[in-house]
Amino acid sequence: MAASVNFPFLISFLLFSSLLLASTLGASDAPIVNGLSWSFYESKCPKLKSIIRTQLKKVFKKNIGQAAGLLRLHFHDCFVQGCDGSVLLDGSASGPSEQDAPPNLSLRAEAFEIINDLRARVHKRCGRVVSCADITAIAARDAVFLSGGPDYEIPLGRRDGLNFATRNATLANLPAPTSNASVILTSLATKNLDPTDVVSLSGGHTIGISHCTSFANRLYPNQDPVMDKTFAKNLKLTCPTANTDNTTVLDIRSPDKFDNKYYVDLVNRQGLFTSDQDLYSDERTKGIVASFAENQSLFFEKFVNAMLKMGQLSVLTGTQGEIRANCSVRNSDNVSLASVVEEVEEDLLEL
Ligand code: HEM
Repeated sequence: MAASVNFPFLISFLLFSSLLLASTLGASDAPIVNGLSWSFYESKCPKLKSIIRTQLKKVFKKNIGQAAGLLRLHFHDCFVQGCDGSVLLDGSASGPSEQDAPPNLSLRAEAFEIINDLRARVHKRCGRVVSCADITAIAARDAVFLSGGPDYEIPLGRRDGLNFATRNATLANLPAPTSNASVILTSLATKNLDPTDVVSLSGGHTIGISHCTSFANRLYPNQDPVMDKTFAKNLKLTCPTANTDNTTVLDIRSPDKFDNKYYVDLVNRQGLFTSDQDLYSDERTKGIVASFAENQSLFFEKFVNAMLKMGQLSVLTGTQGEIRANCSVRNSDNVSLASVVEEVEEDLLEL
């Protein structure tokens, strides 16, 4: 005899499991790590996301380039010692900070200022409850959306680290632009990022700028034969010698817009860095580049997925780390912390 099916039970079971799934998977299929949640500040700072988005809209209206600076800042934070805001810390008497390590020297000074300004606005409204690492992650998310990219939710609850990484650890975790695809794939695989993640995340280069020194190896002493000839000729006008301090855009087709044109550049051999262009030479990544060049929605979907993975690398949660009162200084080094806390409390009373 066939087993009879209890339909009402089956339907409520399916509904329940899909609700459960939605609460743990959110907007993408990337799992979320223990301690982070989609609704982390809902009661502690309900206006958090709108405070940040409203302010960044104003910042980007004046200079859309700042969006690129903020996106890169989050990447450099997450890849070195996890997304713990350690890249934001100034150097101390104990030694040079992550900021002083070579790959971080070209981070925009304004990006650090914007994060500190956002922190002040958020803490004024909510008290010292939101971490600098979370503010950096939300700012990067908004940078993508406000320059034309996808809008997406990110899990929150990161805590700020108490230490920064050494120069060597910073160098070891941020691959050089002169690396080929094999090096990039191997490096990112150590962070559980697969070839699709690598190609998607490299799409961050659809906005922003680079200094000549980051790609001069492709122009001098010999021109990289893979590079489109006219593109190379124009780059040489911007960078007349290998060590000029000039800058140029990363995506020649739409430098300020978050779109899939970066991949169209690669297909046309107009990628700036070896690490970009080689993604279209390596057989493991070539097809992914071509598919993103043809299909922007596919790129957006995979980019969000990869950003969710990157944004959760080695995060501190729960009682680990701290919530900094100033993103550039850990609380134990913050001599004015007592008065900062009082100020915030006074502000809260006024609200
Ligand atoms: C895969 C390895 C990567 C390498 C080798 C790399 C390398 C670089 C280099 C050398 C620059 C220019 C620095 C300068 O000369 O001023 C740059 C800029 C930038 N990168 Fe990457 N990057 C990588 C991945 C990423 C990722 C994962 C993201 C974000 C998802 C990203 C976002 C950016 C942005 C937005 C800029 C422009 C920054 C600005 O205009 O201030 N990069 N990258």
